[in-house]
Amino acid sequence: MVAPDEAALSAVDHGITVGDGVFETCAVLGGHAFALTRHLARLERSAAGMGMADLDLHKVRGGVDAVLAAAPDAGRLRITVTDGVGPLGSGRSAGPQTVIVAATPAVVVPTGRAARSPWTRNENSAVAGLKTTSYAENVVALADATAKGGDESVFANTRGELCEGTGSNVFIEIGGELVTPPLSVGCLAGITRELLLEWGAEAGLPVREAKDGELPFSVLDQVAAGEARMLLTGSVRNVQPTAWLDGVDLKVGELSSAARDLFERNMRERIDP
Ligand SMILES: Cc1ncc(COP(=O)(O)O)c(C=O)c1O
Repeated sequence: MVAPDEAALSAVDHGITVGDGVFETCAVLGGHAFALTRHLARLERSAAGMGMADLDLHKVRGGVDAVLAAAPDAGRLRITVTDGVGPLGSGRSAGPQTVIVAATPAVVVPTGRAARSPWTRNENSAVAGLKTTSYAENVVALADATAKGGDESVFANTRGELCEGTGSNVFIEIGGELVTPPLSVGCLAGITRELLLEWGAEAGLPVREAKDGELPFSVLDQVAAGEARMLLTGSVRNVQPTAWLDGVDLKVGELSSAARDLFERNMRERIDP
């Protein structure tokens, strides 16, 4: 256990020098990490996609238990696994991986403010759909949204399709349905997205994945014009209707707020769905 300002990592850890690592962020409710099993499964998928060696999930779970026991006010948990001490360039050595678990308090905000990103997500990238520690693109895009008065930046992909936010998936409320881009757009397979699709189907809420090409980025013009509504999903953010897009105030959609209520009810009852 170390304080945030205490050294705990090699200065030449490959996660630091080149962003060679994977991570997860989970909400914490009453001292328990929400949907931890799904998050650990995705951590393994991201590591496999990166070509990293198999993860020691026993060690990761031990870290999670120890950190949560020491942080009773935690609302957000972060698990990072890097390739460990490595060379100064992109090549890898076969050293032991680094496992870091950290927690902080968190505030859940009921509605969000989105800005369209001037940059695109590359659905053809070697790391598309993987949750890697190479998050500089997201840092820059989120700073752009923040400067415009938003709290999330939403990307198109290179084909002009609606993709995702820097740390969220997007759903559009249109034609009496909530529709989210398919994973083929290059977005992360969000756990909150996946649970909203599952729980929505279970509760009879009209929520589904879009067909290829069904949600162009220009659907956000319809959102800005009040012809469609929007919500973002992500760990800690949960299911969050969007109340502002690029300077335009938006109404919260009926389905969007029903989806938020459903998610918040279920997440309290099912800590590791
Ligand atoms: C790029 C990106 N998309 C989507 C999400 C939402 O995923 P989840 O619901 O699993 O938090 C995240 C999570 O932070 C993310 O980093």
